[in-house]
Amino acid sequence: MKRDHFISMHYFIIIFFVLSISSLVTAQQRQSNISRGSSLTPTGTSSWMSSSGLYAFGFYQRDNGYAVGIFLAGIPDKTVVWTANRDDSPVSGNANLLFTAATGKLVLKTAQGEDTNIADVSQTASSASMLDTGNFVLYNSGGKVIWESFSSPTDTLLPTQRLSVGMQLISSVSETNQSTSLYSFGLYMQPDGNLVQYPSDYRTVPAAYYASGTDGMGDKISLNLDIDGNLYLLNATDYKVKNITEEVYATRRTIYLARIDWDGIFRLYSYNLDNNSWSVPWNSTSDRCGPRGLCGINMFCISHDLEPGCSCLPGFAPVIQEKWTPGCERNFTAESCKNKDRKYTIQEEVNTIWEDLPYSVLSQMSKEDCRQACLEDCNCEVALYKDGKCKKQRLPLKYGRRSSQSDVNIALVKVEETSHDRILPTREGKKEISKDTIIIIISCLFSLLVVNVAILGIIHHRYRASSYRRISYNGNINFCGDIAPRSFSYAELERMTDGFKEEIGRGSSGTVYKGTMMNDVDKFVAAKRLQKVLSTSEKEFQTEIKVIGRAHHRNLLRLLGYSIDGPNKVLVYEYMSNGSLADILFTPERQLNWVERMGIARDIARGILYLHDECETQIIHCDIKPQNILMDQNGCAKVSDFGLAKLMKPDETKTFTGIRGTRGYVAPEWHRKLPVTVKVDVYSFGVVLLEIICCRKNLDQSLLDDQIILEEWVYQCFEGGKLDQLVGVEEVEARQLERIIKVALWCILDEPSLRPSMKKVLLMLEGTVDIPTPPNPTSFISTI
Ligand SMILES: *[C@@H]1O[C@H](CO)[C@@H](O)[C@H](O)[C@H]1NC(C)=O
Ligand SMILES: *[C@@H]1O[C@H](CO)[C@@H](O)[C@H](O)[C@H]1NC(C)=O
Ligand SMILES: *[C@@H]1O[C@H](CO)[C@@H](O)[C@H](O)[C@H]1NC(C)=O
Ligand SMILES: *[C@@H]1O[C@H](CO)[C@@H](O)[C@H](O)[C@H]1NC(C)=O
Ligand SMILES: *[C@@H]1O[C@H](CO)[C@@H](O)[C@H](O)[C@H]1NC(C)=O
Ligand SMILES: *[C@@H]1O[C@H](CO)[C@@H](O)[C@H](O)[C@H]1NC(C)=O
Ligand SMILES: *[C@@H]1O[C@H](CO)[C@@H](O)[C@H](O)[C@H]1NC(C)=O
Repeated sequence: MKRDHFISMHYFIIIFFVLSISSLVTAQQRQSNISRGSSLTPTGTSSWMSSSGLYAFGFYQRDNGYAVGIFLAGIPDKTVVWTANRDDSPVSGNANLLFTAATGKLVLKTAQGEDTNIADVSQTASSASMLDTGNFVLYNSGGKVIWESFSSPTDTLLPTQRLSVGMQLISSVSETNQSTSLYSFGLYMQPDGNLVQYPSDYRTVPAAYYASGTDGMGDKISLNLDIDGNLYLLNATDYKVKNITEEVYATRRTIYLARIDWDGIFRLYSYNLDNNSWSVPWNSTSDRCGPRGLCGINMFCISHDLEPGCSCLPGFAPVIQEKWTPGCERNFTAESCKNKDRKYTIQEEVNTIWEDLPYSVLSQMSKEDCRQACLEDCNCEVALYKDGKCKKQRLPLKYGRRSSQSDVNIALVKVEETSHDRILPTREGKKEISKDTIIIIISCLFSLLVVNVAILGIIHHRYRASSYRRISYNGNINFCGDIAPRSFSYAELERMTDGFKEEIGRGSSGTVYKGTMMNDVDKFVAAKRLQKVLSTSEKEFQTEIKVIGRAHHRNLLRLLGYSIDGPNKVLVYEYMSNGSLADILFTPERQLNWVERMGIARDIARGILYLHDECETQIIHCDIKPQNILMDQNGCAKVSDFGLAKLMKPDETKTFTGIRGTRGYVAPEWHRKLPVTVKVDVYSFGVVLLEIICCRKNLDQSLLDDQIILEEWVYQCFEGGKLDQLVGVEEVEARQLERIIKVALWCILDEPSLRPSMKKVLLMLEGTVDIPTPPNPTSFISTI
């Protein structure tokens, strides 16, 4: 009651004001009780005004036509507060609005004879009224309100209007276009009692960017605006449960309205009748980039000088120039990533926030790891990196924005390498790219040098017979771009290794010597002189070398070159200063912790996955064991000796198996002369994984009988639920330990087809997929 009294006082002031301007308002009918049979036309009597003349219901001009709605007729700029059927196109000047005499309906008739209902009512209305509150109402014959514009609000809330549970305000496309679009924003009074703001097409918790925090206050709560500009929430018993606006505003000759604007911000507007100006006493946020979805997909919002702006992710272009809402796109798809001819690189966007919807989360990663993980995964289009967590995401990226905080994600965006990108790198991407470029320039220069040397060599050769023969430099020239392995002459290698002097390792297929590059004595290499078991033709050998040489991956030892002209074939690799995984794992003094060990396991899995799935030609390693996993100075594990099996002729497979003698890592199908598939590597990986978990060799005669064979012992512990016996005193979470053990047990199954693919193994290790309980592998134990 008290409020009503207040309102009438207020409108008295407005009436006073309106009288003074009413002469300016033409072709409007001051009629608070509109009877059936009345009509309006855009060009004749165009609206029905409220008794004070402040509000009017009728036609207003929109674009090149007219729309029906309610507007502030009493002020010069005729602000629209409600529109009927707001998404319909405007009508022409010869349309008319009828309050039908016969049926008591409010109908918009166009010249084409189309009828549109303005008010959706089933009952017959007998009269209508434009109230001074800005509410247009229809009454039945009993004088009861059967429809009111206040119950179907558009984007504006007027004083005394209530936004009850289930109701919402939806923003208009722009100040002048009252339509909604897919990208409108909503203010929604939720049944849980919370008042929330969200992008209207996506009404879910992660998208909400404002919430009143009144959930649990019942489903009879409502948002109210008073004539003094106070916005607040009332509960069922009209108790003010929350003030939305905190201050008290002036009421003298001032009118208020609250609107969710095109930019997603809910604002309280006040209009001063003395100086005819609008101001904004309150808004839902001062952060112009706060509203989610202001910028379209694959964009991020930046506010400059208090105005928001949207920019595309690096490598992306706007779908429609100058438009934000359709977002940005790029000209390649995840599928094209599988095409090996394409080169991708990563660009960084710092201090940006996105909707967090990763399909995979990798932890304990460096930014460099994260960058690499994304490059290697065709599903990964953007990785968000923060605090060692690498979250791989697919497109689209939603709700991007620049943050003022500096501890937020770094977005690593996969982009296609083009000359364009090289010239215009963004921010930190610059360093990376120029490094790449430098490498390429250096290798080009180096190749040129090599060619020069070749030419000199040829000249030299003409003068005197030389032992330098068959130096196939020509092959190198076109390797410029992809840094493929180069061929060395045997004599060159003799000099590089000082006559194969310093032996650093001896393996099944040959002996490894330390050497230095001729052009850079600080760069160490490892030259592996193969035993003369290779009877493949030179051409085949070269083809194989090229296939393997193109296998570039951070978890694979790089093949730098080869030599085929000497008594022995030689393979030249990068030199790994930290020895092999076997050295680390089986040397108690060098023991790594669980987290480091799991990092190594994932590194190995990634390397093998690359050989299996991501190379031009599938490569089966055939000899995965800790001795073949080398560690670089950063503790990154690299699979080495890969592909040697492929260099063997099929009839040599048996010999090869015999030579290796690394029983325990060999899949059972080798023994059974079954065809060998990539699953032999999965098996060996499983054994290595068990060794990594337990830090012991898979065969250890010094242990108790039931512990000698690691696989048996692990399964025994797994079945018996005493996994803690496997890892000693380390602080490994039991559940995590069990997960990893299960992965290993799946890998070492007897039946190759039951073993997971390397891809699956990696997903399991990364914790992104569930791991079922593995079947009993005892059958395999009995066959060995
Ligand atoms: C409007 O006027 C009609 C007759 O002119 C009358 O019957 C009706 O009761 C009036 N309605 C209101 C709400 O005053
Ligand atoms: C108003 O917005 C709607 C929805 O986006 C659009 O279809 C219409 O063309 C717009 N009108 C004008 C004049 O831009
Ligand atoms: C409204 O809030 C008041 C104060 O918290 C409370 O006493 C009253 O019961 C509430 N009404 C309803 C319907 O919950
Ligand atoms: C809301 O504000 C009014 C006046 O500013 C104050 O009297 C009232 O206590 C406030 N209510 C709440 C729930 O904060
Ligand atoms: C209009 O008057 C109000 C109240 O006196 C004042 O707060 C506001 O700043 C004035 N606006 C302009 C543009 O002068
Ligand atoms: C929103 O209101 C705050 C004060 O509450 C003000 O500092 C800010 O400039 C306003 N922002 C906009 C966009 O109106
Ligand atoms: C994508 O765009 C870049 C630069 O605009 C261009 O160099 C590249 O060839 C395009 N790729 C495709 C697949 O169209």
